[in-house]
Amino acid sequence: MTTPAAPRKPRIVPDAYQLLANWRYVEYSLFRIICAWGRQACDWQDKPAVCYHAWLQAENVDRLRKRLDQYPGGKPEAPVSKTYETLMNAVLLAPDFAHAMHGAHALVQAALTRAYREYLAESHPVHDKPTHEMLRELIANHEIQAKWFADFSQRYATQLDQTYLATVTRLLNEHEHLMDLRTPTEPYAANVGINTEFRQPQTPGRVPHFNHAPNIMPLLQLHWAESVEVRRLFFMIGYFWEMGVAEQQLRWLYHADFMPWQFIYEEARHMWDESRHGNSGLSRLRDFGLDIKDIGYNSYGASGDGFLPPMTPRDLYEEFFDITQTAETGYFETKRYSFEDFANGKDAASAEMMQYDIIDETSHAEYGRRWLEEIAKRAGVQEDYRKRGAAIRAQRQKESDERVAAMKHYAATGQLPAGYNPTDAHFVGDLAALRDPVARAHFEKLLQLLREKCPLANAATAPKRPNLPM
Ligand SMILES: [Fe+2]
Ligand SMILES: [Fe+2]
Repeated sequence: MTTPAAPRKPRIVPDAYQLLANWRYVEYSLFRIICAWGRQACDWQDKPAVCYHAWLQAENVDRLRKRLDQYPGGKPEAPVSKTYETLMNAVLLAPDFAHAMHGAHALVQAALTRAYREYLAESHPVHDKPTHEMLRELIANHEIQAKWFADFSQRYATQLDQTYLATVTRLLNEHEHLMDLRTPTEPYAANVGINTEFRQPQTPGRVPHFNHAPNIMPLLQLHWAESVEVRRLFFMIGYFWEMGVAEQQLRWLYHADFMPWQFIYEEARHMWDESRHGNSGLSRLRDFGLDIKDIGYNSYGASGDGFLPPMTPRDLYEEFFDITQTAETGYFETKRYSFEDFANGKDAASAEMMQYDIIDETSHAEYGRRWLEEIAKRAGVQEDYRKRGAAIRAQRQKESDERVAAMKHYAATGQLPAGYNPTDAHFVGDLAALRDPVARAHFEKLLQLLREKCPLANAATAPKRPNLPM
């Protein structure tokens, strides 16, 4: 008599776990691909759109991670087959931005959405309700992106490279259109892009008319302290240009995979916020009939041919430090009194724009507090970031005061004060703008337009303020 085989232990973790693990990888890859290519969007409307989509992808990844973690022994980053890396690398290595968006949206997202719907139709709606609920949210986020893509592909209906499309399509087929249940074996997939030569182009996508307007920024700096009208115009432009911060943050996010997910998730929100500030500024300018052609947009001067090297952890630390400890922390007081001045001047729309920014900025300062030390640790940096931040802010204010004094002298005499050595590379160009009659006329025209359409009640009575903090 033979001993009967021990009954096989019923498996608690269902096949669905592998599907969810694969989908987490694909959703995160889409996040990374949008971050990798998003800077190349050329039409203004596409810039905030790609930033928003990266944020939606981060939301999708976060939901999947939480669901995976709920399985016994489940891992938020459960390994997936190396073949998924091949698939997603093929999408990433597109000939250009339009192709990358086609691969990501028309091919991969469409396949994902179909797979989610198939799962919803075939799995148990009662026992597995948490997954059902999550998938419906994921589908909704993909539908927002699909709607954008339908419009984008109309605008960029160029001849598509058939080899690229065929490769991605073949690889999707090989993965049973993202419904494949194979148990992965080592080596597992690394993050998309890691093992490729993908490099981001140096110059972000240029919007039409990006360089048509004369440079009035030096005039805004010059008259900032004494004119609430100038401060109001400055913030419309300043916010509009914050899209440049978001463009840089897309780059950070692509290179931040040495950091824990929670950082990437929060930084994705930070990036989306900055793109929203860019849109806030432009929408306020548009309230007055102004547009990109009247102001200009050059992503803080990012230019040049060629490709950017990968960011090191140290690079990320320095840029994250600079934004959170200098630009964001250094502007709090300036934004607070500007909000007050615009509200007192009865320009409720400009005050509201400031108010929502201040709400976002409060959480951005918190991101700095939460993550700088962690990035420093991983980047091998040892320093008291608070101390350095305070010293830089004080130094920038001092330089700003000296610069404005020098500009005043120059505007009046055509000469710099004796002994003044400009520390800023843009300063020479700025000096030319101060005495450029075209820039001056444009500056006066913009102020006059705002004054006519929405006069500030405190134009003559608002208090004198300090110079810009940097
Ligand atoms: Fe901002
Ligand atoms: Fe911010």
